Amino acid sequence: MKRTPASYLPPITLQDREEIPIYRQLYDWFRRAITGGQLRPGQRVPSTRNLATELKISRMPVLGAFEQLLAEGYLETFVGSGTCVARSIPDDTLRRPVVNARNVLHEIVKKRGPRRLSRRGVALTHLPAQSWLDNLGAFRVSLPALDHFPIDVWSKLVARHSRRPPKGIMAYGDAMGYQPFREAIADYLGAVRGVRCEASQILVTTGSQQALQISAQVLLNPKDRVCIEEPGYPGARQAFITVGAQLIPVRVDRDGMNVREIVRRGRDAHAVYVTPSHQYPIGVTMSAARRMLLLNWAARSGAWIIEDDYDSEYRFGSRPIASLQGLDTDERVIYIGTFSKVMFPALRLGYVVVPKDLVRAFAAARDAADIFSSTLYQAVLTDFLREGHFARHIRRMRMLYLDRRKTLTNAIDSQMKDMLEVIGAEAGMHLVGLLPRGANDVAVSRMAAQRGISAIPLSACYLTLPTRSGLILGYGGANSHQIRDGISKLRMSVQRSGER
Ligand SMILES: Cc1ncc(COP(=O)(O)O)c(C=O)c1O
Repeated sequence: MKRTPASYLPPITLQDREEIPIYRQLYDWFRRAITGGQLRPGQRVPSTRNLATELKISRMPVLGAFEQLLAEGYLETFVGSGTCVARSIPDDTLRRPVVNARNVLHEIVKKRGPRRLSRRGVALTHLPAQSWLDNLGAFRVSLPALDHFPIDVWSKLVARHSRRPPKGIMAYGDAMGYQPFREAIADYLGAVRGVRCEASQILVTTGSQQALQISAQVLLNPKDRVCIEEPGYPGARQAFITVGAQLIPVRVDRDGMNVREIVRRGRDAHAVYVTPSHQYPIGVTMSAARRMLLLNWAARSGAWIIEDDYDSEYRFGSRPIASLQGLDTDERVIYIGTFSKVMFPALRLGYVVVPKDLVRAFAAARDAADIFSSTLYQAVLTDFLREGHFARHIRRMRMLYLDRRKTLTNAIDSQMKDMLEVIGAEAGMHLVGLLPRGANDVAVSRMAAQRGISAIPLSACYLTLPTRSGLILGYGGANSHQIRDGISKLRMSVQRSGER
């Protein structure tokens, strides 16, 4: 018989009163727990010896209670596998109706009105539902080619660190991160991204989202003004909203964020959030002139620059562009990176390069949030980086994504030429397909989601009224068949949305 494995027993309270003998109290407790559904059919119960020890009573009353429960069919025993709750319970019909927690909540809200939340809590709940993120189908943004991940190498490294782990892997760790990992990240960033930093400046986070959150907490007070790209990354918007910052949307054109607009409108801004290497979502690269202008403005005005370098490992046409952080001479740039796209998102590892004078504040904020990231995965990734697997994986993925990008642009060209104008396909793992003016991209995305396709509407990336509608299409996680099939489903979705 298939049994539920040993599980937790709800607390048993016994009254020390003479009139109800202990064996009877135990019998009643088990019967109630079984008929009330707290103990499930097939669930293993403790042995009489263990239960007596746990309850600090003699074994006799436990034996008495179990004997009766067995005789009445509430419990059953199997040779060699102990005692379990019976599969079919005699007075099944006595089972209490399951209390529906949602109904209870509904009643409370009806009686007493909406429950009190902070202003920021309310602002977060006003974010619209995003049905296009409910599936992992074709065009899901930020999804790498998981089936091409070197899982054998990875598993060996995980086994290496978990077989006989030293104390350091299992105990509490440093809020800034695992030292060898921070050293490996600093070496990598110096060599590949032109980032100037020491390992002591690296704060390991659970992805760039936490890095944004911590940066916002450390750098901003409620009502402080933050310039963000328009259109821009909604996750950054959320992080700034949670600290009560005031957002100033700044237009993005083919040279990236319009820095002249920052100079003009953002005189008292405390920070600028920017994706200079590969603007999200449009895909443009910030020009060298604008980079210098932005750094000079930040140095003059004392503002922080939060540089989100989320996918710069993948450039196809031109050579990688060095980071803003590497050009900064005033320690104004907070540089954020992630392993979500080059490894896999569920790893939840990213980092912030923190100016030296802010290291204490960032470490304290991380400590207050969730203390530190899993040391095991930091140690495994350190070896993955140090032993050359990381560089090899990136090289392979660059070729694969180049191929997938070509398949996608060809499929758009042959099936949706009159519906989608491709922009921003030179780097990263996504591109944008602009829809004809006036098209409703949210309606298209909703329809595509019903067909298992995940296409983010461009309008979701605007804080103000969107000037263009379009679809953000990720191509990292879809093979050529899925891409071609996805485009034909997308074409149908655009056609159907136009008929409404
Ligand atoms: C621009 C940008 N920044 C940050 C992130 C968040 O990544 P992470 O998984 O590291 O939190 C994403 C994810 O899609 C992104 O597109």
